[in-house]
Amino acid sequence: MKKINLGLIGAGTIGSGVIRILQENAKEIAKRSGLQLNLHTICDLDIDKTKALLSNTTIKVTDSYQEVLTNPEITTIIELIGGITTAYEVAAKALQAGKIVVTANKALISEKGAELFALAKQNNTEIGYEAAVGGTIPIIRSMKTGFVTNSYQAIYGILNGTTNYILTKMEEEGLDYATALQQAQELGFAEQDPTFDVEGIDAGHKLSILGGLASGKCIPTREIYIEGIAKISKTEIRVAKELGYRIKLLGVYKFDGETIEARVHPTMVPLNHPIAGVMNEVNAIFLQTSYSGPAMLVGNGAGSLPTANAVLSDVVFYNTRIGRDSAIVETNYSQEAKLLPIGESSERFYIRFNTVDKPGVLGEITQILGKNQVSIASFRQSEVDEEPVELIVITHAVQENKLRKAIKEIDALTIAKKSSVVVRLENIS
Ligand code: HSE
Repeated sequence: MKKINLGLIGAGTIGSGVIRILQENAKEIAKRSGLQLNLHTICDLDIDKTKALLSNTTIKVTDSYQEVLTNPEITTIIELIGGITTAYEVAAKALQAGKIVVTANKALISEKGAELFALAKQNNTEIGYEAAVGGTIPIIRSMKTGFVTNSYQAIYGILNGTTNYILTKMEEEGLDYATALQQAQELGFAEQDPTFDVEGIDAGHKLSILGGLASGKCIPTREIYIEGIAKISKTEIRVAKELGYRIKLLGVYKFDGETIEARVHPTMVPLNHPIAGVMNEVNAIFLQTSYSGPAMLVGNGAGSLPTANAVLSDVVFYNTRIGRDSAIVETNYSQEAKLLPIGESSERFYIRFNTVDKPGVLGEITQILGKNQVSIASFRQSEVDEEPVELIVITHAVQENKLRKAIKEIDALTIAKKSSVVVRLENIS
């Protein structure tokens, strides 16, 4: 049986999952894959903590990644250190040495993918990044092979477990945002810097990767419109539900044959759409494809073992396909896709106006909406005794620039007690 010597760089949350699976299940993996996966050397700055994870003392532990990269016996490097500086050096040097690289690092692939795919090709080796998006969900492989005959019309993704967990706990248990975030961190879902989760940057990196696979071009994260969940209050979560929607942080990719849209923002989705039922830290990716029709893949998006499985699945896949994948889909990543600016995209919107309780308020609002070609699809006002009065409007699809202009005008009126709250709405079919 072919023996593969692995060099693991980074023994944190995912790395410790890789160690555990290899220690517990190497025989079963060998039966299924025909490969003997041998954890040869582990590199981590905390040598004692790493050694404590090992039942097999023949595995070498070092704090020098150079030692792992220069060892000719090691043919596959698993990069799990995060960030893009040292991680890039590790991945680039390993590829230049002809080693297979497997990473869970979405920032690395999103920011430096074009260079790394070119290096893989030049050196006739492979770089796998299944673990970078959707943890458990084999979305990269599915898009590369399972849906190979299709073009992608749209992708809607719950791509960040931490924010899905927070939104779920705010709705189901009435937790405030900070407590829910702390729980997600304790459960090991959150990034080292959780602002990457809550500000939508992590989901942006993942959408950049999926959009790249869908369009065949590089979609840089810096070009993607990104808005996090900070402004989502319990009021919006409650009112959305009363109206038949649930708020999810969605990565949205759309291609109409001419223009590409890629954006990450809180989105109201119909409660009866399967993506609305995806709760807690679970991720989901809903694809609208040309031949296969709609499809949704669901699974744990974060956590040590689910992500470690994705890492090891790449180790197996690329060690049995070396020289045959070599970044075929990613060939044109040196070209950047041109994205539709967010202001020019047409969407539906939920708006909560917060106004005084006086005659004529509604008239003033509808006059400004109408003047800016914002068409009202539904309207709701509950009778209350105190101000501000909440006027809830759902619009028909309208260009975002027009909607923003109308909101600015309305918020400047004397009838406005507080700024309006706007959430995009997708009637995904
Ligand atoms: N922080 C990420 C999440 C981990 O919450 O989804 C997986 O990428």
